[in-house]
Amino acid sequence: RAFLPANYKNNDIHIYDTLDSTNTKAKQLALEKAPHGTTIIALQQTAGKGRLGRSFFSPREGIYLSIIIKPTFDLSRSILVTAAAAVAVAEAVECVCKQKTEIKWVNDVYLKGKKICGILTEGITDFETGQIDALVIGIGVNTTVKGFPDNILNTVGAVEGDYSKAALAAEIISKTLHFTENLEKRTFVNSYKQKSLVIGKDIRVYKGRYNISPEDELPGLPAKAIGIDDDGCLIVLYPDGQKETLSTGEISIRL
Ligand code: BTN
Repeated sequence: RAFLPANYKNNDIHIYDTLDSTNTKAKQLALEKAPHGTTIIALQQTAGKGRLGRSFFSPREGIYLSIIIKPTFDLSRSILVTAAAAVAVAEAVECVCKQKTEIKWVNDVYLKGKKICGILTEGITDFETGQIDALVIGIGVNTTVKGFPDNILNTVGAVEGDYSKAALAAEIISKTLHFTENLEKRTFVNSYKQKSLVIGKDIRVYKGRYNISPEDELPGLPAKAIGIDDDGCLIVLYPDGQKETLSTGEISIRL
C-alpha cells in the first residue's frame, strides 16, 4: 500500500497468505458489492485459474492479484480492458524491474521470449438486472521459475532480479486502474501496438478450439498478423488474400 499513489481511490486491498484463486475471492466480493478498485492479493494460490479452463501454477514467490473494476464503458470493449491490463503489466515491469517486455496478443506478457504473466478477466452479472456490473481482472506474474514443471520451461519464464515485488504489484494496480478508468482515451493502445510480439509474424489461427496444447497436431489456419486496430483487435491476412479482424474469445494463436 505504501507504494500506491496518494490519490488511489477506494483502496481496499485485501492481502491473504493463501487462496484457492484471487479471482474467485474477488468475484465473491464483487457480488457483495465491493467498490471499484478493490484488490485481492495472495502470496500463493492452490487452484489458480488460467484462460480457457486451464490452471495457473501459482507457487509462493509469484504475484497474484485481482482487481474489481466497475466499468463506465460499453462492455463490447472488453478486449480493450484486457489489452489495457497487459500494457499495465508490461510497463510496470519495465519501470520497476528495468527489463524490456513484449505482448503476445491478446494479453500474455513476454520477457526474453517467454511468458511471464497471464491475465484472466471475468465478468460479474448482477442477479437483479442480468447485466454485467463488474469485471474482475486477474493478473499473475512469475517472479521465479524455481519449482516449475520442466515441460513448461520452454515457454514460461519469470521476472528475476533485484526489485521490490510490492513496488511492482503497486505499479501494476495503479496503471491498470488508470488505463481502465480512461479506456476511451486509449492512451495505452500505441504502447500495446509497439510491444506486440505478433505483428509481422506468420501465425496460426485456431478458431473455436479452446484446448490447444503444445503437442496439438492440428495445424490451425496459417495467416500473417498484419496489425492491431484501435479496438485492440488483431488483423490477419490469409494466404488467399482475405483479411480478417479477430476479437478475443474466438481464437487462439500459436506463434
Ligand atoms: C492465463 O495465462 O491463462 C491467465 C492466467 C491468470 C492467472 C491469474 S493469477 C491471479 C488471478 N487469479 C486466478 O485464479 N487467475 C488469475
